[in-house]
Amino acid sequence: MTIERETVFDLHAFRQALGQFPTGVCVVTCLADGVRLGMTMSSFNSLSLEPPLVLFSIDRKAVSLPLWERADGYAVNILSENQKDISNRFARSLSNKWVGVRFEQAGSGAPLLPGAAALFDCEPWARHEAGDHVLFIARVRQFRSFGDRRPLVFSKGRYAALQPGETLAPLWPLDIHY
Ligand SMILES: Cc1cc2nc3c(=O)[nH]c(=O)nc-3n(C[C@H](O)[C@H](O)[C@H](O)COP(=O)(O)O)c2cc1C
Repeated sequence: MTIERETVFDLHAFRQALGQFPTGVCVVTCLADGVRLGMTMSSFNSLSLEPPLVLFSIDRKAVSLPLWERADGYAVNILSENQKDISNRFARSLSNKWVGVRFEQAGSGAPLLPGAAALFDCEPWARHEAGDHVLFIARVRQFRSFGDRRPLVFSKGRYAALQPGETLAPLWPLDIHY
């Protein structure tokens, strides 16, 4: 099989190809300059166990990016399958995302969303310019996982859910975090 090397990069096709990689969905929150922020993200991923690092990236076009760059803590709320409305709400630019949303406060001051499948309270570790996004690397200070809640999935530009009974353990010993 050959993979064509395009001279003109077809952005639509590129996005479609990236959409073949399913992800979870999270709302990353922070409190920056006294302003509460929340943004739906699928770019979250695990990065390192020792030290415990995670990553996410923010589009340069995001209105709130300058505030995110000043935050000294972030909370990652991994959404569960019944939180599509929360995902949609925090994916809208400029709207007042927090009206009517219940939350608690993490040690970092960032809002925590009840009903999430897992929560990570983090502090900034590094930030890198990365094309049209800014890559945030964060050190996890505290976390909580709710194993009985199924995560919301995002694939091919759509929400999806894990079907119970369709999972299969891999054949190799799983002492890794992937
Ligand atoms: C499922 C999903 C995943 C998203 N993932 C990201 C992401 O990883 N990074 C990002 O910058 N925007 C992502 N977005 C879009 C942002 O949520 C949206 O542009 C942001 O809330 C706008 O914030 P603003 O008010 O600062 O402009 C995603 C949206 C959806 C629906």
